[in-house]
Amino acid sequence: MKRLYFFLTFAFLIVFTQLGTAQITGSSHDFSAAAWNTSNNEICIVCHTPHNATILPDAPLWNHALSAVTNYTLYASGTLNATMGQPDGSSKLCLSCHDGTVAIENYGGVTSGTTFMSGGPLLGTALSNDHPVSFLYDAALAGADPGLQNPATALSGLGGTINQNMLISGRMQCSSCHDVHNGAGITGLLLKSNSHSALCLTCHIK
Ligand code: HEC
Ligand code: HEC
Ligand code: HEC
Ligand code: HEC
Repeated sequence: MKRLYFFLTFAFLIVFTQLGTAQITGSSHDFSAAAWNTSNNEICIVCHTPHNATILPDAPLWNHALSAVTNYTLYASGTLNATMGQPDGSSKLCLSCHDGTVAIENYGGVTSGTTFMSGGPLLGTALSNDHPVSFLYDAALAGADPGLQNPATALSGLGGTINQNMLISGRMQCSSCHDVHNGAGITGLLLKSNSHSALCLTCHIK
């Protein structure tokens, strides 16, 4: 009997440890233990607030100061078919920390923060060396580029089509590849595993 209890406890521990990784707690976006977090060690508040949020398209109850940059250098190439524009929608939310111009602790009206992003996670304002975001990815684009899946019909592997699970208002954004909340607990805050380039091969026929 004792042995059974031991086994069950062990089994539960394994299950809970695995569940425990598939969430924002303990991820790179958990700033509850940051020295500058004076908000009762809260996690969500750095990015969201239940009241007095910033109103912006595709910005759920946003609480972080936004970047003032409007002239990011965009990715360009002779084989690109999509029409590129400045970052919009939820990608602007990511860039409010990842372009390095706004302090991480500038949320809830604070503007005096001094902790800026550096190192690997810093994308900067030159997005010319990054996978493009903030453009319409629809059947017409897939028609123009036979190397692309039709997002309206191709499955994402996440329960529905690419359009349903990976695009936001039909547009490609940072969140087309990333889960800011570490939902699946995949290294690099990815939306789906990129083992054997599965993420890339969801949209690209190569
Ligand atoms: C580092 C910033 C950040 C933190 C911290 C954060 N979020 Fe988010 N959240 C975002 C961004 C960006 C979006 C919109 C883009 C997206 O969904 O990827 C979002 C979207 C959402 C949405 C709407 C879309 C969806 O996924 O359902 C909800 C609800 C949400 N967050 C809840 C929370 C809660 C609850 C917490 C705390 C436990 C939290 N978030 C912590 C950045 C953050
Ligand atoms: C409040 C500021 C903030 C916002 C908003 C934010 N991030 Fe981050 N993110 C960070 C910081 C800081 C780190 C680095 C943490 C570290 O090095 O421990 C990070 C790390 C990451 C990493 C590397 C994760 C890893 O574990 O290697 C990815 C990927 C990422 N962010 C993507 C996003 C995306 C996509 C969005 C928008 C949907 C976003 N972030 C919004 C602050 C932010
Ligand atoms: C086409 C897919 C895709 C898009 C779009 C995308 N990323 Fe990523 N990103 C990745 C992959 C794949 C990695 C590598 C993850 C790993 O293996 O750790 C990555 C890594 C990162 C890292 C970690 C870099 C490091 O060296 O620590 C950050 C931060 C990040 N992305 C932020 C963003 C932000 C912000 C955007 C939007 C401006 C964005 N990403 C758009 C696929 C993408
Ligand atoms: C959610 C869909 C999606 C995912 C996932 C994705 N891409 Fe893309 N990618 C696109 C679309 C759409 C374009 C724009 C293609 C065009 O306009 O011709 C693009 C553009 C590109 C380009 C530039 C093409 C050119 O003509 O200059 C490269 C290279 C690329 N992706 C590689 C990758 C890699 C590598 C990964 C995985 C890390 C990846 N993509 C993941 C949809 C995606």
